[in-house]
Order: sequence, then structure tokens, then C-alpha cells
Amino acid sequence: MEFVRRTEREALKSFYDFSVIWHEERHDFAAMDGEETIGVVEIRIAASLAHVERIVVLPERRRAGVGRALLNACADTANYYNCHKMSVLVPHKSAAQTFFEHCGYKEEAVLPQHTFKLDMAVLRKFLL
Ligand SMILES: CC(C)(COP(=O)(O)OP(=O)(O)OC[C@H]1O[C@@H](n2cnc3c(N)ncnc32)[C@H](O)[C@@H]1OP(=O)(O)O)[C@@H](O)C(=O)NCCC(=O)NCCS
Repeated sequence: MEFVRRTEREALKSFYDFSVIWHEERHDFAAMDGEETIGVVEIRIAASLAHVERIVVLPERRRAGVGRALLNACADTANYYNCHKMSVLVPHKSAAQTFFEHCGYKEEAVLPQHTFKLDMAVLRKFLL
């Protein structure tokens, strides 16, 4: 870690070809029904991007708008931090891809034989 701290600023400048101060943060949201948690989502914000790390809704509470509401909360926070784009990686042509597409995400690329050797779709939604 000491090495990373010492070299980070120069390495980022060399990598991006402009001066960068890297700042990364994570935000979690939960959907509640009274005391019960019925869904959660986590995003990682860095470099003007908000990446959906995970989103899960209880099986018996799916298809009732909870996932969409969680993504909307993420988009509000991403907007607050001036992110221009949200992204997520899902198995290509999966139910998760259909869910994100219904929530306004578009397929941006397909990474062949990626996670667990599955084809994975990179989905995105522009915010600005
Ligand atoms: C993906 C997941 C979060 C969706 O949550 P949800 O609360 O059921 O989603 P919503 O009810 O808000 O659905 C939003 C839209 O997506 C559609 N949708 C959701 N799940 C779908 C599915 N399995 N197949 C097709 N469409 C689906 C809904 O019909 C709705 O579209 P519409 O309003 O235009 O009719 C939930 O199924 C889940 O937890 N899955 C397991 C974990 C997972 O795969 N996470 C995603 C990758 S990180």
C-alpha cells in the first residue's frame, strides 16, 4: 500500500495523460417493507461512472417494481456526484439483462467467455 500511495499520482497521470486525483466510494440502498429488507443494491462511484456491483430483490417480492425503484435511487445519487453514466455487467441475454433494459439500459459491448467463461454484456445508461 505504501508503494501504491507513493506511485499512484504519477501512474494515473501517465495512464490517462492528464492529472487525476482518484476518488472512489460505494453506496448501498435497501428497500424496506416495515422492518423487513426486501431488496438491496450497491454501486461503486469513480471517475464519473457509477457501476452497479449488485442488485438483489427477495424472490417472493420480484416483478413489483422494487428493482426499478432501487436503480432510481442509485441514479439520483450518481447524478448528485455528477456521474455521466451508469454501467453493469450481466450474463448476455439473461433475465438480468432484460430487467436492466426495461429500466433504460442499453447493450454497449459483449465480452466473450468472460465471468465463469460466460459471454457477459456491458450495459449502460447515460445520465447527463
Ligand atoms: C433482477 C432483479 C433485481 C429484478 O428485480 P424486480 O424487483 O423483480 O424488478 P422490477 O419489478 O422493478 O422490474 C422492472 C422491469 O424489469 C422487468 N423484469 C424484471 N425481471 C424480469 C425478468 N426476470 N424477465 C423479464 N423482465 C423482467 C419487469 O417486467 C419490469 O418491466 P416493465 O415495468 O417495463 O414491465 C431480481 O430479479 C433479482 O434479484 N434477481 C436475482 C439477482 C440478479 O440477477 N441481479 C442482477 C445482476 S447484479
